Amino acid sequence: MLHVGMRSACLVVLLLFTIEATPCPDGYIQVGGGDCFKTMWGERVTFTKAEMMCNEDGGMLASIHNDQDNEAGRSMVCPQSDLQKLIGLRCVGLECEWTDGSDVDYTRFFPANVPSNDKVERCYSLSNGDGLWYKMKASCGTQTGCFLCRVKARTITCNANEVEYKGGCVFVQTTPANQSVAENSCPGQGGHLISIHSQEENNFHQNLALVSGISGSVYLGGKQYAKDPLIWVDQTYYDFNKFIAPFPNSAFDDCVQMMLSSEFGTLGQWTNVDCITKLPYICYRDGTNVPLYSTTPKPSTTTVVYPKSHYKCPPVQYFNRAGKIYSPNFPLSIPPQQRCEYVITTDRDTIAHIKFPVYDCESGTKLTVYDGLDSEDPLLYFTSTAPNPSRIYAASSNIIKLVFEPTDNSPVGTGWEAEFFPL
Ligand SMILES: *[C@@H]1O[C@H](CO)[C@@H](O)[C@H](O)[C@H]1NC(C)=O
Repeated sequence: MLHVGMRSACLVVLLLFTIEATPCPDGYIQVGGGDCFKTMWGERVTFTKAEMMCNEDGGMLASIHNDQDNEAGRSMVCPQSDLQKLIGLRCVGLECEWTDGSDVDYTRFFPANVPSNDKVERCYSLSNGDGLWYKMKASCGTQTGCFLCRVKARTITCNANEVEYKGGCVFVQTTPANQSVAENSCPGQGGHLISIHSQEENNFHQNLALVSGISGSVYLGGKQYAKDPLIWVDQTYYDFNKFIAPFPNSAFDDCVQMMLSSEFGTLGQWTNVDCITKLPYICYRDGTNVPLYSTTPKPSTTTVVYPKSHYKCPPVQYFNRAGKIYSPNFPLSIPPQQRCEYVITTDRDTIAHIKFPVYDCESGTKLTVYDGLDSEDPLLYFTSTAPNPSRIYAASSNIIKLVFEPTDNSPVGTGWEAEFFPL
């Protein structure tokens, strides 16, 4: 009895010290219980470049929909002592739109700068003084100064059978399943088998599994492909390792378990295991599949911390049969210096096919498609010219390799979506 009581007490203490939930990314301020705003400053940035810098935080140049948004934007301090901040409104003649696609349902134009019926392009900044919107001097062109970004507040509500951790929700399933069933049955809103990034996280999940009554071992969301470093199914970086020697071991398959037995000093250590093995498992969801920006702030019960390092490409990503793949950060703008390699394998006696229904990449990006794994000669590649969205490209076997590289520091565009399938 005392034993069980002590375990629960430990868990409570752990939780108290690990919840650091905030609905906004670092440096952002939540406005009126809704979205998060931040000012940024850039030297010689265009409207498009400012938008891209907001995208890197998972947001957009700010749209403004009421007095509260406007006053928050007006009063926020700029990193440099600018008198105004660029906002996400772009007008051509009388046609105005917010870059985040929300309705233009509120305006505060300085009277002399109201759009007029002249086909002229105008971008606007919000004045720190009177809170009115002034046409930028270089309009949407290159200028140095402050701009306002808006990011959707992350919200998530943990279910009664979940534990809140780092602003997300952890779910422990004690009924064993094989790895693919386990991954697919993790609860929604960004749910995956757990990835582990520090000793503290390893301890937390080890204790949670034990307190939940699991003994033996538990699935983590790792895939240890024969020659490559570990890949986490949630696509976060592999930056922490608890494999016990001689693991990973080629005698076993690609999945990863955490040992829960204290015999032989293996408690909390990882080994690879055949993926058909049925084990209990741990899932984590952090709300990252919630739309990134929205103009209708929803009241939230529980808040979620800004996600772990998503949108980064692991060394290689593997895909089987048929599905969709995306450039990093899609559908927001392409982050610089993210080389992504994708290996697509369809069933043995089929031919892998691929098409690109969405392709929005301009200068500074390169997408190369290889026929098979070992080919050095690209089947095709795209730099600034987009593939025909209805064209289907075929390999000569069941394997296609794709490499996507934003080659300079300011790649333009929002990336691409591809569909692959066997024929
Ligand atoms: C996992 O289990 C499901 C359902 O029992 C089964 O359909 C699937 O083939 C199994 N996968 C592996 C890799 O064993």
